[in-house]
Amino acid sequence: MDAATTISPAVLILLGPPGAGKGTQARMLEDKFGLVQLSTGDLLREAVAAGTEAGKAAKAVMEAGDLVSDEIVIAILRDRMAQPDCAKGVILDGFPRTTVQAEALDGLLSENNQKINAAISLEVEDAEMVIRISGRYTCAGCGEGYHDTFKQPVEDGKCDKCGHTEFKRRADDNAETVASRLSAYHAQTAPLITYYDGQGVLKCTNAMGKIEDIASDLESIVGNAMS
Ligand code: AP5
Repeated sequence: MDAATTISPAVLILLGPPGAGKGTQARMLEDKFGLVQLSTGDLLREAVAAGTEAGKAAKAVMEAGDLVSDEIVIAILRDRMAQPDCAKGVILDGFPRTTVQAEALDGLLSENNQKINAAISLEVEDAEMVIRISGRYTCAGCGEGYHDTFKQPVEDGKCDKCGHTEFKRRADDNAETVASRLSAYHAQTAPLITYYDGQGVLKCTNAMGKIEDIASDLESIVGNAMS
């Protein structure tokens, strides 16, 4: 490598509807490639729990299954990406979700001489998403995700990752809100598939299979995108 050449931290985007498995796969990629998972859903839930101004504004919108304003989400993402651990490279999970957010991300990356390595679209049928979301729960200690049917802890009632014994379910994981989240996805987020295709960074993967099989497909997509 030329002495003057610098390697920019990788930027990967996971696109996909609610329940597609973005969080599940992002955490596995984080471990495998040493990247940092940035979930705007998690950041917003932290803001709600902390009672910040952004959290207060976001709470009712999230409970209704609508999208939080671009202004709030972009500010939260920008702050998080400025933190030192993001120099390892990031997997964006749930961001961008609108064309305005995608354009803001392009601007932020260009300020930092970074580029998007790949925007990976997880393709899942709507009916499957409802099943996945309605059975989801997470470890209250480390946030590891589980499912009543598809992914249970090895030892009943104990998190595989951190050993915690308490679990929680999300307030927006109910049938009514899921319908709104799906419709927000189709109306506002699905157009990003064309957006990233136009940038030449789009990769699509069938996310209807088993978690491990999808992880293996993603590992090869991400490995190629980072080489
Ligand atoms: P967010 O937290 O981002 O939720 P989401 O996009 O609706 O996605 P989910 O977290 O529900 O699903 P996932 O794809 O991560 O699936 P998971 O891996 O958990 O956003 C929540 C809200 O915040 C939004 O509605 C909005 O209000 C707001 N928000 C967030 N970002 C925003 C933004 N950028 N702009 C505006 N507003 C924003 O998997 C689901 C379940 O299925 C789990 O139980 C898992 O174990 C299981 N599972 C996973 N893969 C498989 C598989 N292959 N087979 C069987 N089960 C599987």
